[in-house]
Amino acid sequence: MPLLDLAQRQHGWLPISALHAVADLLKMPKMRVYEVATFYTMYNREPVGKYFIQICTTTPCIVNGVGCDVILDCIQKELGIHLGETTPDGKFSLLEVECLGACVNAPMVQINDNFYEDLTVEDMTRIINDLKQDKIPKPGPQSGQGHRFSCEPKGGLTCLNTEPRGPGFGIRADL
Ligand code: FES
Repeated sequence: MPLLDLAQRQHGWLPISALHAVADLLKMPKMRVYEVATFYTMYNREPVGKYFIQICTTTPCIVNGVGCDVILDCIQKELGIHLGETTPDGKFSLLEVECLGACVNAPMVQINDNFYEDLTVEDMTRIINDLKQDKIPKPGPQSGQGHRFSCEPKGGLTCLNTEPRGPGFGIRADL
């Protein structure tokens, strides 16, 4: 899998010749490599644009915040493409994917290696406009001033905010 990732980073996507090169390097049957490369959506078996937008449309991203449907509409409107398509200038591709593991910060998209989370239509529009000018927006939660750093509660801690009760806590001075 790391070799497939390396090949994809060198080439931009994974043509069958790259799959064969990985199979040769690892001295394994080509079918084994096909099996891995066709199972995971992170391997692109067709060329993708310079900015590859993967939008999560699994349940938490549907129901949280403005919802991924609204974000998807925004992307399609801004770029003039639909799911599975690439802009004519080769700059953007758009793909629908299953959960990317950032459900607490839904709705979210992954663009190349970066996650953009807690999205609103304004955030998504700004991100696309920055990328059109090849400016890389700051990844992570986009929830404005005082935004959360990661996936902690937006309004501050709601648990684990007092010293734990025993047994165990405080028994060893070095812990
Ligand atoms: S459901 Fe969208 S990141 Fe998990």
